[in-house]
Amino acid sequence: MLALAALAWLQSPTPALTEHRIANIFKPLASPAESEYQIALFSFVITGAIFVAVAGLIIYTMVRFRRRRDDDTRQEPPQVYGSNQIEAAWTVIPILIVFVLIGVTARVVASVENASPPASTVKLTLIGHQWWWEVQYPDFGVVTANEIHVPVSRDGAHTATYLQLESVDVIHSFWVPQLSGKTDLIPNRDNFLWIDPREPGVYLGNCAEYCGTQHANMLLRVIAEERSDFERWAAEQRRPAEQDGQIGEARATFESLSCVNCHTVKGTAAAGKFGPDLTHLMSRQTLGAGVLANTGANLRAWVNDPQQSKPGCFMPSMKLTDRELDQVVAYLQTLK
Ligand code: CUA
Repeated sequence: MLALAALAWLQSPTPALTEHRIANIFKPLASPAESEYQIALFSFVITGAIFVAVAGLIIYTMVRFRRRRDDDTRQEPPQVYGSNQIEAAWTVIPILIVFVLIGVTARVVASVENASPPASTVKLTLIGHQWWWEVQYPDFGVVTANEIHVPVSRDGAHTATYLQLESVDVIHSFWVPQLSGKTDLIPNRDNFLWIDPREPGVYLGNCAEYCGTQHANMLLRVIAEERSDFERWAAEQRRPAEQDGQIGEARATFESLSCVNCHTVKGTAAAGKFGPDLTHLMSRQTLGAGVLANTGANLRAWVNDPQQSKPGCFMPSMKLTDRELDQVVAYLQTLK
């Protein structure tokens, strides 16, 4: 089953981009993640040195002064009472260490948060829903879901993407480990974040704040591509859905069902806002916010009963007849 899924995955017509499949915090590929990685390393070295010194002294003392057969238990070793030097040392040194850590951390946080966007910056709004991500590009007139396309940042042409983070229900958290640290998506509050991926590819992320039963399946992809590819993608996404005479019947079936109350397909009667925009569903790599690869068989299974793949999600099984299911799936597959 897993092997089959992997095979279907390999064969799915995804662009030839490197998949940074391992969401690895130790291999940062964007400025904010890089700064955060360095400061984590710095703190780790300092706290590691303290640990080694303290543990080393304890072990040395245990071994050196262990009880011996000929010990005279009536005699105490020499005692130290009220040494100003020792007390000053173990008060002042930890304070200095704490201040160094505070200072270095504050500097990095400020440099990440106060960075001013370059002119070529792409802005997008990421909205958390239970349990999927809505992605809006107001400047491009694009709305999509669960996959964020961004231009890659090159040495000569530094660029970045600014994300405004919002939530319609509960607190979620954006986390794509190779691009930046976590930032929460909080209802009634706008948070901001920026990323500048240095290598083209697909970066995996997930919701990092427990937000209900399908929290673990609230997955996210960041697709970093050359600026020209990004612009082409945005232009494709802006188009309304394809109008094709041959799919008239399938489309009529889709529009007659209650799918349209929750989903939008630009240029049709479907204008619901509760679920993901489906206008260009076939251009995405996954279904159900990353739970299934976007293949024909998976799409059919998902539409038939989403609760099988994502129990508890808000899309119910519509109990479609086989004919309706065929038509809806056929129609969705035209949404390129
Ligand atoms: Cu959304 Cu956890």
